[in-house]
Amino acid sequence: MADKQAKLDFGGNTFDFPVLEGATGPDVIDIRKLYGQTGAFTFDPGYKSTASCESALTYIDGNEGVLLHRGYPIGQLAEHSSFMETAYLLLNGELPQADELTDFNDTITRHTMLHDQLNKFYYGFRRDAHPMAIMCGVVGALSAFYHDSTDISDPEHRKISSHRLIAKMPTIAAMAYKYSIGQPFMQPDNSLSYTGNFLRMTFGVPAEPYEVIPAVERAMDRIFILHADHEQNASTSTVRLAGSSGANPFACMAAGIACLWGPAHGGANEAALNMLKEIGTPDRIPHYIERAKDKNDPFRLMGFGHRVYKNHDPRATVMQKTVREVFEALNVTDPVFETALQLEEMALNDDYFKEKKLFPNVDFYSGIILSAIGFPTTMFTALFALARTVGWVAQWNEMISDPAQVIGRPRQLYTGPTSRDYVPVNKR
Ligand code: CMC
Repeated sequence: MADKQAKLDFGGNTFDFPVLEGATGPDVIDIRKLYGQTGAFTFDPGYKSTASCESALTYIDGNEGVLLHRGYPIGQLAEHSSFMETAYLLLNGELPQADELTDFNDTITRHTMLHDQLNKFYYGFRRDAHPMAIMCGVVGALSAFYHDSTDISDPEHRKISSHRLIAKMPTIAAMAYKYSIGQPFMQPDNSLSYTGNFLRMTFGVPAEPYEVIPAVERAMDRIFILHADHEQNASTSTVRLAGSSGANPFACMAAGIACLWGPAHGGANEAALNMLKEIGTPDRIPHYIERAKDKNDPFRLMGFGHRVYKNHDPRATVMQKTVREVFEALNVTDPVFETALQLEEMALNDDYFKEKKLFPNVDFYSGIILSAIGFPTTMFTALFALARTVGWVAQWNEMISDPAQVIGRPRQLYTGPTSRDYVPVNKR
C-alpha cells in the first residue's frame, strides 16, 4: 500500500486512492480502480492533469524551465554531446563508453540505405507534395519491407527496427526534399557522420563532391539533440497509443509523424518563420502582438507558449545562441532574426504574455537557423520528425517492455441522444 492516499468524497461514500511518487516532480493519484470502485470516470480532455504512463526517459519541470534526458540537462547535452550519443542515452539509459558509442554509430550507419523498391514510392507523389505527407507514407511503408523486424514481442526485432528507423529517417527526409526540387536522390555516404551524411544527401548532387561545413554540421546535430525527446508530448503519446494495440513500430512512427505535422506541435517551426516573414519589419510587431491578444482573432504568436513550460524553454535559449553561430559560420545575416529578437523582447514585457507565462519555445528560432542552412520551410517539420524518431522509438520500447502496459483506451462523457427507435425514411 502506498504511504500517501488521496480521499475522494463521491456519491455519499469516501474512497481512498494510492498516491504514487516519481523520482522527482508532482505526485500522481493512482485512479486505475476509480471506475471499478465508484462507477465514475475522470474528465480530462487534452490530458492536462493526467499521467498516461510511467517513464524513466525524460523529465521536464515547466515552472523552472528544466529539461533532463535520463537526468542530464539538455543544455549540457546540446553543448557537449552528439545526436548519436544522446540517442544511445535515450535508448539505453546511460551514456555510452567509447567502444559502445563506436559500435552504436557503426550499427546505425549500416542501416542508412533504403530498400531499392522503396525509392520508387517517391514517384507516386506529386512533386509539390509536402515532405511530411511523403514521410508519413514512406515510413508507414517500411513495415511492408522489413518483415524481419516487426515481431514486437521479440526484443531483437524491436532493437533492429529501432536502429533501422533512426538510420533511415535522414535518407527518407533528404529524398523527400530531392524529389520536391527534381534533383536525383543521393545515396548515403557512410564515411560521414550521421548529420554530415544527412546534409550531403540533402544539399549534395551526384555531379560534384560535397564538403560538409563543420560549424553547420555541429549546429544541425545540436538541433537534432534539442528535438530528440520531450516526454509525453502529442506525437509521442500518439506513438504510444498506436503501439499499445501491438501495431508494428513502423506503423506507430507513421502515426507519430502525422500528429507532429500539426501547427500546434511540430508544424509550429514552419508557422513561426512564416509569421516572422509576414511581420516583416520590427515596426509592425505591435500590431501582431495586439492581434495575438485579441480573443476574437484566431492569430497566435507561433513559436510562443507551451503546455508544460511556464518559464523559458531551455531549448529556445540554446537555439537562439545557435542562430548566431550559424550566421557567423556562413557569413550571413537575416533581418527576420532581428524581428524575432524584438518580438520576443516586446512580448516578454507585455502583461498578457507575462500573466499567461508565454515564452518562446523551441520552434521560435529553429526556423531561422534552418532557413540560413538552406532548408525550405516545408522541410522544417520533417527535420523535427527525423530527430524525434529517437524519442519515439525509445518511448515505444519502454512501453512495450513495461509489464503494466495495456491497450490505451480512454473513456468519454457522452452528450449525444439516448436510446431511440429507428424511423424509416418515409416516416421522418
Ligand atoms: N499566442 C497568444 N496567446 C496564446 C498563445 C500564443 N502563442 N499560446 C497560448 N496563448 C493563450 C491562449 O489563448 C490561452 O488564453 P486564455 O487562457 O485566455 O484562453 C492561454 O494562453 C493558454 O493557452 P492554451 O492554448 O490553453 O494552452 P495549451 O497548453 O493548450 O497550448 C500551445 C499550448 C503550444 C498549443 C499554445 O501555446 C500555442 O498554440 N502556441 C503556438 C503554437 C506553438 O508554438 N506550438 C509549438 C509548441 S513547442 C513544440 C512542440 O512541442 O511541438
